[in-house]
Amino acid sequence: MIGEKKVLFSGMQATGNLTLGNYLGALKNWVTLSDEYECFYSVVDMHSITVRQDPATLRKRARALLTLYIAAGLDPQKNCIYYQSHVSGHAELAWILNCFTYMGELNRMTQFKDKASKHADNINAGLFTYPVLMAADILLYQADVVPVGIDQMQHLELTRDIAQRFNAVYGDVFTVPQAYIGKSGAKIMSLQEPSKKMSKSDENPNGSIYLMDDPDTIRRKCKRAVTDSLGEIRYSEEQPGLHNLIDIYCACQNKTPDEVVKEFAGCGYGQFKEAVGEAVVAILEPLQKRVAELEKDKSYIDGIIKENAEKANYFAQKTLRKVQKKVGFPEKIR
Ligand code: TYM
Repeated sequence: MIGEKKVLFSGMQATGNLTLGNYLGALKNWVTLSDEYECFYSVVDMHSITVRQDPATLRKRARALLTLYIAAGLDPQKNCIYYQSHVSGHAELAWILNCFTYMGELNRMTQFKDKASKHADNINAGLFTYPVLMAADILLYQADVVPVGIDQMQHLELTRDIAQRFNAVYGDVFTVPQAYIGKSGAKIMSLQEPSKKMSKSDENPNGSIYLMDDPDTIRRKCKRAVTDSLGEIRYSEEQPGLHNLIDIYCACQNKTPDEVVKEFAGCGYGQFKEAVGEAVVAILEPLQKRVAELEKDKSYIDGIIKENAEKANYFAQKTLRKVQKKVGFPEKIR
């Protein structure tokens, strides 16, 4: 708790082009929850270097992502929006937690297996211990709740296990966090291969809607989305392409699948795809305009970066000091 409020932590990587999945699965819920909780929203740039990055591009993308958080509706006066690399406590706690995490646990992480197969020439230790850094991100702020998409659930389970293991040895040091999964949009799939998650690293750009796609591109991608030959609007696992489009529409319009199926009963897929395209444009077009406006105001963004890094450091240090003492590090002489 900070004051009267429970704590929320979440983060996003500044790698690649963000997709509609990132928005509907995470960012949209962050905004909804942002009044109720004391929130920490990090641009997790330290996670990004587990795969090779061009430094100038990473810096640019990190800033664009931080701007996007604000453009999406997070108030940087109330929510702590900051770069992970500006708070050294993340790395310090990650080291300690590394000593409370088993190789076997990390070996089971599906994201590690997946990324290791995609980057076979660079299976570095950071890629392997990435979930420990993620646990440190969350536990450093004593977060109660962590809004994420379904693909991050395994990492969150591990975070809970690490926290409970540490607490079992040293007493109640960490809050054991809960995942928050939104009612819709928690697993947006590729428009071209609906068995695969919509992902920024997808080689087929038509599979993903990128947050910065222009309206016509969004409409075209929706129109070309893979469906089936049944020709009936139903919300069924047997129609994965349509299922995904219904999920997207629900998340954009805050509707339930039942409502959507009723709304489009008797319509053809073409008409529904058009409606999905318009629903996505209605969300992304204003978002893009706000990003463009904010980008012009350099000193405003710089001020936020500075102030929020200080705020994040303050809370991070509180937890870190407690943990360092528990594990037996000598106290600093001040
Ligand atoms: P990242 O950067 O891959 O994704 C950011 C958020 O977007 C969600 N997401 C999706 N949701 C629905 N459908 C999709 N197709 C989709 N693709 C991505 C993710 O679930 C995530 O919530 N390891 C994390 C970043 C991270 C983090 C943390 C998150 C680092 N430390 C601490 C929470 C708490 C990651 O790579 O997310």
